[in-house]
Amino acid sequence: MKNKTEVNKNGASLMYHPPKSIVKNAHIRNYEKTYEESIKDPEAFWAKEAEKLKWYKKWQQVLDDSDKPFYKWFTGGKINIIGNAIDRHLETHRRNKLAMIWEGEPGDVVTLSYHALNREVSKFANVLKSMGVKKGEIVTIYMPQIPELPIAMLACAKIGAMHSVVYGGFSVEALAGRIGDANSRVLVTADGGWRRGKITELKSIANEAMDRSPTIEVCITVKRTKQEVHMENDRDFWYHDLMSLPIASPRCETEVLDAEDPLFILFTSGTTGKPKGLVHSHGGYSVYTSSTHRNVFDIKDEDRWWCAADPGWITGHSYLVYGPLINGATIMMYEGAPNHPYPNRWWSMIEKYGITILYTSPTAIRGLMRFGEQWPRRHDLSSLRLLGSVGEPINPEAWRWYHEVIGGGNCPIMDTWWQTETGGMMIAPVPVTPLKPGSATRPLFGIEVAIVDDNAEEVGPGEEGKLVIKTPWPGMARTIFGDPDRFKETYWKEYEKQGWYKAGDSARIDEDGYIWIIGRIDDVIKVSGYRLGTAEVESALVSHPDVSEAAAIALPHEVKGNAIHTYVILKAGATSSKKLEEELRKHVSDEMGPIARPETVHFVESLPKTRSGKIMRRVLKARSLGVDEGDLSTLED
Ligand code: WT7
Repeated sequence: MKNKTEVNKNGASLMYHPPKSIVKNAHIRNYEKTYEESIKDPEAFWAKEAEKLKWYKKWQQVLDDSDKPFYKWFTGGKINIIGNAIDRHLETHRRNKLAMIWEGEPGDVVTLSYHALNREVSKFANVLKSMGVKKGEIVTIYMPQIPELPIAMLACAKIGAMHSVVYGGFSVEALAGRIGDANSRVLVTADGGWRRGKITELKSIANEAMDRSPTIEVCITVKRTKQEVHMENDRDFWYHDLMSLPIASPRCETEVLDAEDPLFILFTSGTTGKPKGLVHSHGGYSVYTSSTHRNVFDIKDEDRWWCAADPGWITGHSYLVYGPLINGATIMMYEGAPNHPYPNRWWSMIEKYGITILYTSPTAIRGLMRFGEQWPRRHDLSSLRLLGSVGEPINPEAWRWYHEVIGGGNCPIMDTWWQTETGGMMIAPVPVTPLKPGSATRPLFGIEVAIVDDNAEEVGPGEEGKLVIKTPWPGMARTIFGDPDRFKETYWKEYEKQGWYKAGDSARIDEDGYIWIIGRIDDVIKVSGYRLGTAEVESALVSHPDVSEAAAIALPHEVKGNAIHTYVILKAGATSSKKLEEELRKHVSDEMGPIARPETVHFVESLPKTRSGKIMRRVLKARSLGVDEGDLSTLED
């Protein structure tokens, strides 16, 4: 692979060709041919993919587009994602195959075969039922990265309840808001988790959030760290106590559901206002996550798959839990920090467990790269055959390090572009695709994208434009929970005439048809690959008694990709100081979670605004970067 590099037409980047060993055995041997067929008749393509799954009753219609943009897939079909992620494997050689290898930060290990996973999931499903959990109800899950997290998700799905996983790094405000939006009656949490040698305070945050959440009746807590936590008599139960009761039988029927029945909601940040709960469904999501996972990562029975994302984000939902389990893979999961106790932690686990595919974010790669090559060099990483990247554009320097040092120069890197809303990967190579570092390459099967200007006309090669998706796909979010109008407004209004989905990203397309994602064009910030809204950071700041107005922007950061910088107008009587600056940074972190902690807080007298009073963040950004401020005609003064 190394010897076959070439400079592309504009001389800007090298083209990396896949090694012969990969090409020879790949599920998809000819991207172009498969793509063209899929686009010519997408419904036939998706029907073929859906036939690989277990349906209790076959669908009548592949795509029902009678109520755009509320597309329905596989209508009339009966399915449950658990029928595919667990049940059907029990009838095959996979019954005794490892479904999961989990390592805790302190070094404890849990392994579960598909048989054992089924028992745990069934037991917990029965526990949930005994707590009165019903089909369609939303259970909120707030947990560290321990096996009980996927078990709780799968148990909800099995009985037709929906889950709403709230990332374990979020704080009280974020958790309480999401519990409230979901009207959750049941919360599943843990007494804490291990992170960098320390115990996180999950249960006390959960307790505070529950104090603000009148809907919660039951809280089930996994004992992970054994630290002292406050439990309330009528509300709190220990997970292991419930799991040892006779009601926790290991036999539980999987609920037969309609293809369009909702599987989960997952909150994500948007341009304005509060985070929105995107809804994904059993049928389309099962088909889409398993199909993309199989094609992009060429998954084989002997693979050991490690998606290093937290299950609290869509990457964890689609490619740590659902997609790989549907494909009968062995999944790896790790609880803690990549550099604990030393920066070789990940590399030692790859060697120890013989991981064959690693899927992670550019931020994680940059973070580990900082410690130097000596850490990975101490380990035999030759079990790896493919690598993956997701969450933000990967800079060529990190790409090359990942490729050379981790992949030994012969593991193609699948740079995958997608979103919480898309449910699964949309623009990504398959293993036979020649790669250009920094490009997610081309759209996947059945996916039609375009990059357009302000008049919705496709831009020429090399020109920047807005990324749109032209046709529906089975993994797409069905709606925003409780707010279908906002779903229409946010994603479908701008291109209503064309019927396109607005991705919110800007991108370029080169002469070879390769797509280069530039970044968000709205007020969404990607910090370390995590998605946050400027509006959320600003509202956290103004919730401090000294703050009158606030603006948040993203500026480039070497490891995090972007970092949050804020501008604050104080209330009369409050005075700026280093101490207050520190206090405000902590305040945002306490309200939202450590990932939202601003890099800087600048005290200012005024903020640049439009005449209609909207903060012009791009002006703040241009000033900080010392670049041209652009068109200022709408600036108030
Ligand atoms: C936004 C979506 C999809 C799972 C994790 C993120 C950015 C995502 C890439 C990539 C460049 C990327 C986009 C997108 N993004 N993957 N491979 N190259 N940018 O999901 O939190 O919903 O964020 O992440 O800006 O819009 P998300």
